[in-house]
Amino acid sequence: MELTINPAESLRGKVAVPGDKSVSHRAVMFGALAEGITEIEGFLAGEDCLSTVSCLRKLGVRIDETGEGRLQVHGKGLHGLEEPGEALDVGNSGTTIRLMLGILAGQGFFSVLTGDQSIRRRPMARVTLPLAKMGAQILGRQEGNLAPLAVRGGNLQPIAYESPVASAQVKSAVLLAGLYAKGVTEVNEPYVSRDHTERMLRAFGAKVERAGTRVAVEGFPLLKAQRVKVPGDISSAAFFLVAGSIVRDGEIRLTNVGLNPTRDGILTVLAEMGASISRENLTEVSGEPVGDLIVRPAGLTGVKIGGSMIPRLIDEIPVLAVAAAYARGVTEIRDAAELKVKESNRIAAVARELVKLGVRVEELPDGLRIWGGKPLRGADMESSGDHRMAMAMAVAALGAQGTSRIRGAEAAAVSFPDFFAALRRLYP
Ligand code: S3P
Repeated sequence: MELTINPAESLRGKVAVPGDKSVSHRAVMFGALAEGITEIEGFLAGEDCLSTVSCLRKLGVRIDETGEGRLQVHGKGLHGLEEPGEALDVGNSGTTIRLMLGILAGQGFFSVLTGDQSIRRRPMARVTLPLAKMGAQILGRQEGNLAPLAVRGGNLQPIAYESPVASAQVKSAVLLAGLYAKGVTEVNEPYVSRDHTERMLRAFGAKVERAGTRVAVEGFPLLKAQRVKVPGDISSAAFFLVAGSIVRDGEIRLTNVGLNPTRDGILTVLAEMGASISRENLTEVSGEPVGDLIVRPAGLTGVKIGGSMIPRLIDEIPVLAVAAAYARGVTEIRDAAELKVKESNRIAAVARELVKLGVRVEELPDGLRIWGGKPLRGADMESSGDHRMAMAMAVAALGAQGTSRIRGAEAAAVSFPDFFAALRRLYP
């Protein structure tokens, strides 16, 4: 699908951003492993989370849709999943395949996981290696690095794993396998990655301890069904935070946004760039901080980011690069080589698309250097089948001179099915 985006002088209105993708995945997965019926509110009905639902159904879990964003997950307990008679298809979803690998590593049956072209290129050894150390048998191309992956799980031993990457998917896969290992399973990571697994597993009744970058879980807990209210996704809000900053006029209110400190790096960095974003109605739902964000236009300046900030805003880097293109001066993003193995190679994709708009960009081995503040011109862009690229490029087009087109815009449905309609509603 090709979409036309016209520049906007002003954006004004309210957006209820969709449910958090990371929290939605975990709510259904943990609900499936718990005893009793888990009720989920604010579930993200994007393609990725629907892939998680479909995989769990193939494992024998009953999941009912009881309203918009409402799910009932009929938990099977830790030992109730059934051997699937067909391959589990995760579509485009990295979180589904990596977290499911952790769960399947604990099952004494055979299963196969596969996904779309992008998933079948992404590295899985980061997860299959520690799971093999725990005793799971996992086979795939490149010694278990590439999907399709075949898993025969069961009889796991606990490990203390030193992860070479700050990745919540790696950490979560090992912790989930740890639920099936007698004793304490530990993961340490170079920087703290998002901690939704730790928070939610604890709420379901698991014993989870954290000390700095180290997390430990005790095996064979009794998980009990919960009511989970999913906060709005700050990664989806980020597109409007940047859009509302770079236009000339207006004001956007984003309601009920998840403000977990392991996810809110975009707020810190945009503030440093000079953005005007205020917070209201701060509260906590289901163990996650939430609030409204109000963004008004502001002149931005370039920044340098790297190190422990990167995991706190890894998914927001495409749209942060757009903010950088509109900011005076140079922005440098380092320590972000992980971007190369996301839904697309986001270092290459961001550079290629921003250049089309007339921006000077240098690709770095671990990031990007962007010279901002010069006028942008509308262009024909493409999403590379990557939801966050499709939405980031739409934001880039808002402040450009002339019309832009985005090919493959339908990719947005992976995390934000209503994105383009929500954006259009903000035009005067
Ligand atoms: C996610 C973790 C991150 C993030 C992804 C969702 C999660 O990936 O990029 O969109 O839900 O755990 P990594 O664990 O690969 O950093």
